[in-house]
Amino acid sequence: MKTIISPSILGGSFSNMEKIISSLDQSEAEYIHFDVMDGDFVPNLTFGPQFISNLRNQTKKVFDVHLMINRVSKFLDEYIKAGSDIITFHIEIEENLSELISKIKDKNIKAGIAIKPKTPWEEIKSLLHSIDQVIIMTVEPGFGGQSFMDSQIDKIKNISNYIKENNLSVDIEIDGGVNYETGKICRDAGANILVAGSFLFKQENLLTATNELNKFFNQ
Ligand code: DX5
Ligand code: ZN
Repeated sequence: MKTIISPSILGGSFSNMEKIISSLDQSEAEYIHFDVMDGDFVPNLTFGPQFISNLRNQTKKVFDVHLMINRVSKFLDEYIKAGSDIITFHIEIEENLSELISKIKDKNIKAGIAIKPKTPWEEIKSLLHSIDQVIIMTVEPGFGGQSFMDSQIDKIKNISNYIKENNLSVDIEIDGGVNYETGKICRDAGANILVAGSFLFKQENLLTATNELNKFFNQ
């Protein structure tokens, strides 16, 4: 099965975004991952819909938007209008999750649910029947550059088995601490999308590093 690479721009400098998007646009990565943080659901703040919409006309890559925010219902329309292709929010928020999923899918956008490391995988079971993607966090959400948590490997396997057993078509995306080694473990456990932030941005050339990672997982 194909492995999709979703470079996380959180790993780069926000003052350099046009250049970063241009490199990723030329790369073989299919997605670009946007980490939206509200300083409430997570102890960090990043950007809002305007930032995403300003970059939309610079590339046709899939905009994979990861909302680490509490009040999704209040802002959902803005992220839809900004040009998101996939919108993922967290299972841990106190909102009507099914309603949010329907609202996203009604706009022909893919809907995803993300799950934090301490949340048991069983909590996502029923929702797997109505979503397009699950993001399994392999770090505590909030910051790039953290180490991959091995403790989440069983969760990947359990979710992957459940998806197979029930014949569902749900992508499994891994977010946090991905590099060649950890990415391979996740792929073997059943993941088909890998988010990579700091690992790509600490290499000398973002375009080359992205293509190499993509090649490694798709040869
Ligand atoms: C963490 C974010 C991640 C992050 C991944 O809260 O959701 O997408 O950017 O970055 P690395 O690859 O550095 O762990
Ligand atoms: Zn993310």
